[in-house]
Amino acid sequence: KTIALVTGGFTGESVISLKSAAVIGRNLDPEKFDVYKIIITPESWYYEDENGGKYEINKNDFSLALNGAVVRFDCVFIGLHGSPGEDGKLQGYFDMLNIPYTTCDALTSAITMNKGYTKAIVQDILELHVAKSIQLFSNSGDNVARINENLRFPLFVKPNNGGSSIGMSKVKTEAELPEALAKAFKEDSQVLVEEFISGREFTIGIYRGAQGIGVLPATEIVSSKEFFDFEAKYTTGVTEEITPGRMTPEEKQSVEKIARLVFEKLNCKGITRMDYILEEGTGNLYFIEINTVPGQTENSLIPQQVRATGRTIQDFYTELIEAALY
Ligand code: DAL
Ligand code: MG
Repeated sequence: KTIALVTGGFTGESVISLKSAAVIGRNLDPEKFDVYKIIITPESWYYEDENGGKYEINKNDFSLALNGAVVRFDCVFIGLHGSPGEDGKLQGYFDMLNIPYTTCDALTSAITMNKGYTKAIVQDILELHVAKSIQLFSNSGDNVARINENLRFPLFVKPNNGGSSIGMSKVKTEAELPEALAKAFKEDSQVLVEEFISGREFTIGIYRGAQGIGVLPATEIVSSKEFFDFEAKYTTGVTEEITPGRMTPEEKQSVEKIARLVFEKLNCKGITRMDYILEEGTGNLYFIEINTVPGQTENSLIPQQVRATGRTIQDFYTELIEAALY
């Protein structure tokens, strides 16, 4: 099969996408797959060969003219975090061309990229715990008063459609709000302000494989910083990541059951990773968000979780492609 490994992107996460794609590219079985790395930037879409040669993609049919022949793809492996690989845009484009891909469909990708809308669905339809939050649509003057009236500090201020903690701050006092809001609004036209939930953080990989839905062992994240920020996510040693996380059998069952419920009800496909906080004292499990193109870098969590099952990443990626093709 001929695979397009799509990476790059339009956001600050594009550097992470390139790192994820490097790991994916090294781990796609060369006996089964003929892989072309396609880089998407705001300026152009191109194939880059091992010698750095660049060849433009024909956007009309996502084909590639190479050495006098035309390459067409059987499947797209999306290794592109943020827009346009995680928010449904490429998914809609590939649907129109009838080319299968390894992620959730356009609708699910678009909804889950939006943290506020995802929380609304998870809270209203699935009745799960979510941290209290408000969604802001502009950086206007009455935001601070609105936040003070509705939420309790400490707070997280996040770009609503962001990833990798870019533009995100933890805010302990009102005085810190304007700077945090400005930082988040620099990344996104919408910002989510959310109450901090004190507890232990877990993140769990769930995927739709050739044999149906599979659950990976959850990782417990013990951050030595204020929160699991960009540096903590991608620097070795800053955070302790324990896979499988330390949970009682009941906690493990509850995390897996809820993660499976969210995955099914939101019609997820491919590999997703969901973040949860197990609240101190109450033991309530709070849903934070879903990542529908989770990181696959050397420091990322999904590769760790796959290895913890005793399986190779190569075998896991093969299963994702097989599931996308059938
Ligand atoms: N958004 C990053 C890549 C993740 O979820 O792993
Ligand atoms: Mg995320």
